[in-house]
Amino acid sequence: MNYLAPSILSADFSKLGEQIETIDKAGAQYVHFDVMDGSFVPNISFGAPVLKSIRKCTERKIDAHLMVEEPIRFVEDFAKAGADIITVHAEACKHLDRTLEFIKEQGALAGVALNPATPLSAIEWVLPKVDMVLIMTVNPGFGGQKLIPYTIEKVRKLKQMIDENGYNIDIQVDGGINKDNVTSVLDAGANVFVAGSAVFNGNIEENVKAFLERIN
Ligand code: DX5
Ligand code: ZN
Repeated sequence: MNYLAPSILSADFSKLGEQIETIDKAGAQYVHFDVMDGSFVPNISFGAPVLKSIRKCTERKIDAHLMVEEPIRFVEDFAKAGADIITVHAEACKHLDRTLEFIKEQGALAGVALNPATPLSAIEWVLPKVDMVLIMTVNPGFGGQKLIPYTIEKVRKLKQMIDENGYNIDIQVDGGINKDNVTSVLDAGANVFVAGSAVFNGNIEENVKAFLERIN
């Protein structure tokens, strides 16, 4: 299955509930929730209380992408707020295995994210424990950046690794994904597509539909 995960980082926060209903009705399967701490990434966004509020606006899966140092400190808060998937960065965890186990103990699906420069070997041993791997296609911190081309090859290698071992793991891509390049990441093996500016700039409903046509 392929899924579209609009990143609400690019939404108009004064109309957040309304815009979430729009993406939901247009058929986007996930809501991608970008959490930034101003330390792991050079920007600050929003936290668990905001997730708790938007939980009331949609029954779609909320996918929390924690771009924070030592995310294990916040996992319980996000699970309680209603996150379905909690994704942590391998680079931000002193004890990645423990963090992933803890996410599952809290009843959420566990995702692990890798920055563009981080090798796939960083997650080799924990792959059997994760539900999703997030390959960052930009350096995290801001919406509206351009996809870094070599990350497409990284997606292809990861897909090979997953298939060779017979694992059942989603591959998410995040950063600079648009209607023109989504097919190339799809062909490389990704099946969960985050898009912020390409969904929320312009006509949201038409943008979602255009993405869904390309990924289905
Ligand atoms: C990047 C965030 C992304 C970002 C995507 O730090 O993790 O989710 O908001 O936005 P676009 O699609 O505009 O690159
Ligand atoms: Zn993200």
